[in-house]
Amino acid sequence: MKLGVNIDHIATLREARGTLYPDPVVGALLCEYAGCSSIVAHLREDRRHIKERDILFVKKAIKVPFNMEMSINKDIVDFALKIKPEQSTLVPERRQELTTEGGIDVVSKNNYKRVEKAVKVLQQEGIAVSLFIDPNKKQIEKAKKIGADLIEFNTGKYSEAKSASEIKRELLKVKQAAKFAKDLGFFVAAGHGLDYENVKAIVKIKEIEELNIGHSIICRSVFVGMVAAVEEMLELIS
Ligand code: PXP
Repeated sequence: MKLGVNIDHIATLREARGTLYPDPVVGALLCEYAGCSSIVAHLREDRRHIKERDILFVKKAIKVPFNMEMSINKDIVDFALKIKPEQSTLVPERRQELTTEGGIDVVSKNNYKRVEKAVKVLQQEGIAVSLFIDPNKKQIEKAKKIGADLIEFNTGKYSEAKSASEIKRELLKVKQAAKFAKDLGFFVAAGHGLDYENVKAIVKIKEIEELNIGHSIICRSVFVGMVAAVEEMLELIS
């Protein structure tokens, strides 16, 4: 199983003090050295962590593919068209949220049109487009119709589930959705809120081919270092 490491929270630490360190470029290179398959970063509309400059330098520095998480806001799409990440993952975005709160809704007619337009312009520039969606059959069908190259299931609800029955229910949703998406021919990724414990059940879902993980790895790196934190996760998911 592939691992994409999201480096946003290296920039969160930097922004907490307005310093020049820690540098996401150095973090990305260490993740690559540790064996991750891609580097992921989210250029948020409020630029609360990653900035344009980080994306430019990270993309130049790494050899693995760069996956830019992004909203379909015009300025952000234009920036992606300019820097041409190997992949872009479209996510919904609300200013006040602590982190991405759910998948992008492609079932709603209005959203469908807007997302479809963004997918087409990005694909025309050779960028593979992934849609971050909730593990739901209707969303998957619409993602297929839109022509997304890949999909990433939002594991946020599973990660936040507290009781055993809730965890079981949310895990089942991810399992069923992964099977359905794979049968439709999708490359299936998953992510959000995954850590060194809850990832173990997700790894058993054979249809999932890639995990995108950020917060837990960056937090772990504070204690053991970036390379060890990525290696520990790779050990769990391989
Ligand atoms: N995948 C997507 C689409 C996300 O929006 C995020 C959070 O930026 C992640 C994966 C990583 O989530 P976490 O930081 O909780 O591991």
